[in-house]
Amino acid sequence: MDRIRIHGGARLNGEIAISGAKNAALPLMAACLLSDEPLVLRNVPRLADIDLMEKLLQSFGVAVHHRSGAVALSADAIRNTTAVYDLVRQMRASFLVLGPLVARRGEARVSLPGGCAIGARPVDLHLRALLALGVMIELREGYVVAGAPVGLRGARIEFPAVSVGATEHALMAAVLAKGETLLVNAAREPEIEDLGRCLQAMGARISGLGGPCITIEGVDELHGAEHRVLPDRIETGTFLVAGAITGGDLLLTDCEPHHLVAVLNKLKECGVEIKCEGNGTLRVRAAKKLVAADVTTEEYPGFATDMQAQFMALATQATGVSHVRETIFENRYMHASEIMRMGANIAVEGNLAVITGPTPLSGAPVTASDLRASASLVLAGLVADNTTWIDRVYHIDRGYERIDERLRMLGAHIERVEDTAAQA
Ligand code: EPZ
Repeated sequence: MDRIRIHGGARLNGEIAISGAKNAALPLMAACLLSDEPLVLRNVPRLADIDLMEKLLQSFGVAVHHRSGAVALSADAIRNTTAVYDLVRQMRASFLVLGPLVARRGEARVSLPGGCAIGARPVDLHLRALLALGVMIELREGYVVAGAPVGLRGARIEFPAVSVGATEHALMAAVLAKGETLLVNAAREPEIEDLGRCLQAMGARISGLGGPCITIEGVDELHGAEHRVLPDRIETGTFLVAGAITGGDLLLTDCEPHHLVAVLNKLKECGVEIKCEGNGTLRVRAAKKLVAADVTTEEYPGFATDMQAQFMALATQATGVSHVRETIFENRYMHASEIMRMGANIAVEGNLAVITGPTPLSGAPVTASDLRASASLVLAGLVADNTTWIDRVYHIDRGYERIDERLRMLGAHIERVEDTAAQA
């Protein structure tokens, strides 16, 4: 397994183009199953999770072609409707193929995704939505066996809790249901709006995107379309923190600042200088004095849980006491103990983490536990003195394209070291 080695202390300077959003691209790829005509996606990031989704779609018989920076997905010849455990367990978003498969083919058998480092990650809200749409569901040997021999019917689906995945799942299943579907208490993440826009381009009739109530008028079939994946707001936030924590000066291009207003406001509250320079460009400069701030993660448009670990790394360098409260996932502080090994002063009590700074960080061998935790370890390594070794970098490759190369281009002393012992 590769490791990342960072010699901390370099200020990051220069320009970085933000990739397409992983958390938009994954449901968008699953949406190809809804039509027998090709769906062409542009600005798809090159990530391990994207490769896994391609593999899963190909296992159903979807033809995947890469050409001039776009991915063409053709589901005209679906020959299999089972998503095997080995693929689904590696990436929870695979579960999203269930709805499109059963909406298009009347049947699907998809492994229940397991939990992961940050929580149990149940899918009860997904299943509740599909049941409401008339899907028959049976749990057998770790699989969800779904059937809709007479197709899906529109329904009123009120989510008892906000769920990004369950909202995306219901949206994709409802577009081919007979009649009208109303989603109440839907998640409002920009990735959901992006998925909705793509479905509209394929001929779906959807209104209320971006709000808590979404209405879908079912249609008989969807046609092919071309769609550009929106910029990754979490990658944007991560690079903003990288510029701030190293005392640098970065220009981020191809981003959508209005998709991370809560994060921008919080970083400004900490004293970080951030300027929207128009045309999808953000400039971040180090704070004259980095000061502590409190954060509570919330559903969009609140402060994103996917930015909590990165903010914690920054808070270790801020003067004062920062309180971070994680309200979305039950176990999303795995990075805290690793950053503490580098010298941070963090006290975790339930879903509250109290960070007292500034504390000088000292490089150490640390272990990545999940995608965003690994990003926070990289950020801490960038500001730590001497050398930080991060293992299990496959976690970070799931959500950040060539992170070591791109940070090196900005002046970081960071290398990916192949673990030859593992290869020996
Ligand atoms: C999506 O996960 C993202 N993943 C996550 O990003 C992100 O953290 C999360 O939304 C919240 O913003 C993708 O889009 C691929 P949820 P998802 O359903 O859809 C509970 C990253 O780092 N819940 O909104 O799984 C759940 O346990 C990843 O890029 C149920 O109880 O998130 C959690 O506590 C991590 N039952 C809360 O809801 C369900 O059926 C929010 O989960 C579904 C969810």
